[in-house]
Amino acid sequence: MKQAVFARGLPHGGKLAKNFVSDEKRRKALQQKAGWMPALTVPDRIVSDIEMLASGALSPLAGFMGKKQLLSVLKTMHLPDGLPWTIPIVLPVDGPTADSFKTGRPVALKSENGRILAVLDVEEKYPYDKDTYAESVYRTKSAEHPAVQILMEQGEIFLGGRVRVIDRYPYGNFEAYRLDPEETRRRFLERGWKRIVGFQTRNPVHRAHEFIQKCAMEIVDGLLLHPLVGETKSDDIPADVRMRCYVALLENYYPKDRVLLSVNPAAMRYAGPREAIFHAIVRKNFGCTHFIVGRDHAGVGNFYGPFDAHAIFDEFDPQRLGITPLFFDNSFYCRTCGNMATPKTCPHPPESRVTLSGTQVRQMLAAGQIPPVEFTRPEVARVLIEASRGK
Ligand code: ADX
Repeated sequence: MKQAVFARGLPHGGKLAKNFVSDEKRRKALQQKAGWMPALTVPDRIVSDIEMLASGALSPLAGFMGKKQLLSVLKTMHLPDGLPWTIPIVLPVDGPTADSFKTGRPVALKSENGRILAVLDVEEKYPYDKDTYAESVYRTKSAEHPAVQILMEQGEIFLGGRVRVIDRYPYGNFEAYRLDPEETRRRFLERGWKRIVGFQTRNPVHRAHEFIQKCAMEIVDGLLLHPLVGETKSDDIPADVRMRCYVALLENYYPKDRVLLSVNPAAMRYAGPREAIFHAIVRKNFGCTHFIVGRDHAGVGNFYGPFDAHAIFDEFDPQRLGITPLFFDNSFYCRTCGNMATPKTCPHPPESRVTLSGTQVRQMLAAGQIPPVEFTRPEVARVLIEASRGK
């Protein structure tokens, strides 16, 4: 691989791999043809992948992975050409469905509401081993893990091949926050930001999030606040509520010219360490130079150690990864220090710390109580209380 591929600020693999057919004439022609092709209806989490393939968020990928790419990612956490990549981007179908498609022929990919989004050139159909997949990506075969459960229930054949996207999926409530990598990059340039930190989140924003974002903002030029709005597990707070929390927080506590709020259409995998690398690579494609990795990043239950998502970065060549992680320890408000802190800066015992479990917070909100200001900003708590009352 040429050195230029790794130059700082470039997308993963050197250039944005946008798989949207931008030429209108070609797109219209393909849209017409797609109406006659055999069709496959895909779930929302695959729609998210298609959307990311369209915009270049998954650069350098050009479609759903074939067997060689998948095995390389599972075994080595790199693509066959040596570029870091940790999460398979794959399209599962059951045996009879796979049999109904011919290798070498195109298939129209439809969302659940019947909209044709893309054409897949079926280059490969191949079986895979679910246990190996689960152990490699999620470090567990337990069906208690939400993504392992999906894996065990999904079809046993992967379709691999190039994807040409012909219709961009509407973002509904989030349309105003929809920015493709090309657009975020343009805005960073306009604002004169050279060092940009990306922040991934799937939870309502709390003081620890704010603290680690602001620590990072002290050493970079700007923050790309990039909440994930694709599919999450059913007990996570819905994305539109989380976005309202962000708007309330930014309005009151952040300098406007230092933050760009936009949404990441990805679905959550809950793959902890591997997903931290994936999240970083995606934000690199959006133009970030740095990426925040805190406690139990992309974790679920007790499947990962709190800092496994830090340790995994040691397994990668920083130059090939091309985005610098900023690690944060467990953050909390310390009453004795009188400020936010972590065990790296605060010597006081746990009794001094304001910590609340997710369940405690949910109970308080359901009862209409505002959690302590040391835990959540009141403006954010009010959004959550309204949401829990169905407003
Ligand atoms: S995640 O699945 O997107 O990682 P969440 O939205 O809770 O979940 O976290 C967003 C980011 O903030 C992650 O990098 C996570 O590690 C970090 N984080 C969340 N809570 C804390 C905390 N109390 N201390 C340090 N980092 C945290």
